[in-house]
Amino acid sequence: MTRIGVVGAGRVGAVLAAALRAAGHEIVSAAGESTASKTRIADLLPGVPGGKPTDVARTCDLLLLTVPDDMLENVVTMLVGAGAIRPGQYVCHTSGRHGLAVLEAATAIGAKPLAMHPAMTFTGTVVDLDRLAGTVFGVTAGEADRAELESLVTDLRGVPMWVPEDKRTLYHAGLAHGANHLVTLVAQAMELLAASGAEDPAATLRPLLSAALDNALNSGDAALTGPIVRGDVNTVRAHLVQIGETAPATIPSYVAMAKATADRAVLDGRLLPIRAAKIVRLLDEALARVEEPHLVRGRRTDAGWFEKQ
Ligand SMILES: NC(=O)c1ccc[n+]([C@@H]2O[C@H](COP(=O)([O-])OP(=O)(O)OC[C@H]3O[C@@H](n4cnc5c(N)ncnc54)[C@H](OP(=O)(O)O)[C@@H]3O)[C@@H](O)[C@H]2O)c1
Repeated sequence: MTRIGVVGAGRVGAVLAAALRAAGHEIVSAAGESTASKTRIADLLPGVPGGKPTDVARTCDLLLLTVPDDMLENVVTMLVGAGAIRPGQYVCHTSGRHGLAVLEAATAIGAKPLAMHPAMTFTGTVVDLDRLAGTVFGVTAGEADRAELESLVTDLRGVPMWVPEDKRTLYHAGLAHGANHLVTLVAQAMELLAASGAEDPAATLRPLLSAALDNALNSGDAALTGPIVRGDVNTVRAHLVQIGETAPATIPSYVAMAKATADRAVLDGRLLPIRAAKIVRLLDEALARVEEPHLVRGRRTDAGWFEKQ
């Protein structure tokens, strides 16, 4: 049983503390000023006293620093400056981007730095607790502290994955590119379907996207289907016309993803470079039309396409 303090009872801090408490650790106190943080302490950590960050840090053996990434360095420096962190104390953050360097102020006075990033999205409510089971945690620690960090992740029912200090930002970029941009992609797809008359765009997309995600996770590029990999230039051209008319703000992301898709299909040997070049030319033209319409003067033809004059 470890005496744990939480600085930042945010979405992650309150949930991880609740899970560690359920695993038998003592949560000595939690800091958070906003109403949202105070509500999370009341809901997820009933009976745990609130406190100032310095008081929380002084009373625990393991300090969970769950503040926004950009605040981490300042908060650690402030806590060390106030004498609230002591040698031998564990100081653990949950940022994906940062490794141990951001905790240098604490390490310099003999505290033990840990980085433990859950590869999961949090709502800050009880629904997150069940999702922790099987969640991968990107972890970084000094050699002597690896066992402690592994046992912390195990208590959270997570799976530790060691990430080298200099690769944490890349690790985090991979997660953000996949999870965050997926949300934007799906939102844009739902808008297009709604504009096409689909009554329930989410229900229409769910089976297709679930299958595509499963296939991509299992087979990578080999999972790709659709007009780009088939080299259906006219279908891509027609897409661009309709999206340009209905949702021009979606053109830049459609073009970026279609170009990346074409590149990967060529490298995979499934798309002839000559077909890819045709597709890329169409995509570049469509992008120019939405980004610099004054430079592309054109008229609509019967086929619904612009011809340069
Ligand atoms: N959200 C996710 O899905 C997720 C997933 C994995 C990892 N993470 C990582 O977990 C960490 C926390 O993220 P979060 O989403 O839980 O953030 P959050 O919900 O915004 O909560 C941040 C917490 O930090 C406190 N705080 C902010 N500035 C502070 C300061 N200067 N001094 C002391 N406390 C301060 C806030 O207190 P007040 O309420 O009083 O402002 C709040 O309790 C970040 O490193 C993030 O990258 C987040």
